[in-house]
Amino acid sequence: MTTYMILKLLHMTAAYLTITLFALRLLLDAVGRPGWRQTPLRWIPHANDTILLVAAISLLFVAGYASDMPGWLMAKIVLLIGYIVAGVFAMKPAFSTPVRTVAAIVALVQVSAIFHLAMAKPVLG
Ligand code: HEM
Repeated sequence: MTTYMILKLLHMTAAYLTITLFALRLLLDAVGRPGWRQTPLRWIPHANDTILLVAAISLLFVAGYASDMPGWLMAKIVLLIGYIVAGVFAMKPAFSTPVRTVAAIVALVQVSAIFHLAMAKPVLG
């Protein structure tokens, strides 16, 4: 297996895990089980997201995107920032339920768009 294939596999595995872990935490909060914050579920998503990003940045160089970044990749990075910000609002118990619900929907829409861009690689701009 080439370095590119290993990094892409790692990145994709972490990508599917990030959405699964995000949805799981939303679900646990929605059913009144906020106790996940006292379990490894508190830090596992952060470890996974670190792997996701390190693999993503490595892929940029290994696949040769770093020097000439396509539009779909730039859009992915912008959406990633939006996903992180919305995700913080969705997860924080300090915010009201309506704010957290809207933030959760916005985060899910953005991460879906990231998956779409990653898979379809449309020509943008
Ligand atoms: C939540 C964030 C992200 C998710 C869910 C995600 C998801 C994915 C998925 C599913 C693929 C495989 C697409 C395929 O089937 O070919 C992929 C590929 C890739 N992603 Fe991400 N990604 C994310 C963030 C990023 C970021 C921030 C970068 C850049 C800094 C990035 C760079 C790449 C690159 C370079 C590829 C390989 C494209 C190729 O050569 O086919 N990703 N991503």
